[in-house]
Amino acid sequence: MITQIDKIDQYSIDVKILQQYADMLTNGNLVAFPTETVYGLGASALNPNAVAKIFEVKNRPSNNPLIAHISDIDMLKILVKGSVLDFKRLFDAFWPGALTIVLPKQDVVPDIVTANGSTVAVRCPSHPIANELIRLSGIPIVAPSANLSGRPSPTCFEHVYEDLNSKVSGIIDGGHCEIGIESTVIVPVGSNIVKILRPGAITPEMFELNGYKVIVDEHVLAPVSDNSPVESPGMLFKHYAPQASMQLVRGNDTDVIKYINAEISSSNVKCGVLCFDGEKDAYTSEYVIEYGNPNDPITLSKNLFYALRCFDKTSVKQIYTRVIEPKGLGLGIYNRLLRAASFNVIAL
Ligand code: TXA
Ligand code: MG
Repeated sequence: MITQIDKIDQYSIDVKILQQYADMLTNGNLVAFPTETVYGLGASALNPNAVAKIFEVKNRPSNNPLIAHISDIDMLKILVKGSVLDFKRLFDAFWPGALTIVLPKQDVVPDIVTANGSTVAVRCPSHPIANELIRLSGIPIVAPSANLSGRPSPTCFEHVYEDLNSKVSGIIDGGHCEIGIESTVIVPVGSNIVKILRPGAITPEMFELNGYKVIVDEHVLAPVSDNSPVESPGMLFKHYAPQASMQLVRGNDTDVIKYINAEISSSNVKCGVLCFDGEKDAYTSEYVIEYGNPNDPITLSKNLFYALRCFDKTSVKQIYTRVIEPKGLGLGIYNRLLRAASFNVIAL
């Protein structure tokens, strides 16, 4: 398949070109596009054959449901059963943006979207290209992250191209995603409590500021034990994995550096380090990537998956990185690090 590729400027969108991609979607084809979180692989949410192509191309397990993306609240009625007034406070506070809300589904939503479940996950993205693409297509668009299943989510055009060129009808190059980790997924529990199933840029503290009580699902920071039921099937799968093994190290600056350097010199495989800005020279490996400043965690989330994919291009077999405080956006970053490391954490 020849994949159509265009670069589109989010600040000055060429609507004629974007319409071509919207037409691909309405015709049942797949288009990868940028969002403010990560790139998504889109298909019409109302066309089961189109949705089936997503599972095939990504090699995604069929029991992992998809997020349906809308361009405005009006589109919600197509997807969600009953009154949505109860959730208006959430929409007003966080949409458009990096929040996915799990709600009761309408019958018209195909079972393949929800993995036969009775709920549908919905998000209204704020990225101008994503939002306008959905608006031009006129239908809700399901979009998982635009990576092959198990690989880190793509946060730039080049990484989408690596995974999906010649497998999908179109890829829109919209530059680097701002947030860099996927949306926060919540399920409302009554009208004043939200349960976080996947942490992201909309943080527990932000819900609390808006008057919500927050429950963080136990599997956000802990592995799922065999056969235990989960509320979000995404928790079950090995995720965000770089090709090398990864270990997270918890401790003070000096101990962490000492431990990692000792591991590097005694190991018989090539080791890499993922560290904070300004720390590169402290490590003795030739493969050290600085990914941001912990006092400005958006710099870390923005570069995390990008950095993991950079390690995939080296011969590094073991990556070390230190843990970050699971507060605010740090909770989402730590959740992704834990999964990338298959929960391998050492406390010094
Ligand atoms: O930021 C994002 O959310 C990106 C961009 C493209 O919008 N999309 C994304 O999709 O991360 P995906 O498919 O990679 O992750 C969707 C997550 C999975 O963990 C899935 O299990 C969960 O949302 N999910 C989907 N529908 C659900 C439902 N009805 N109930 C509970 N969890 C659901
Ligand atoms: Mg994904």
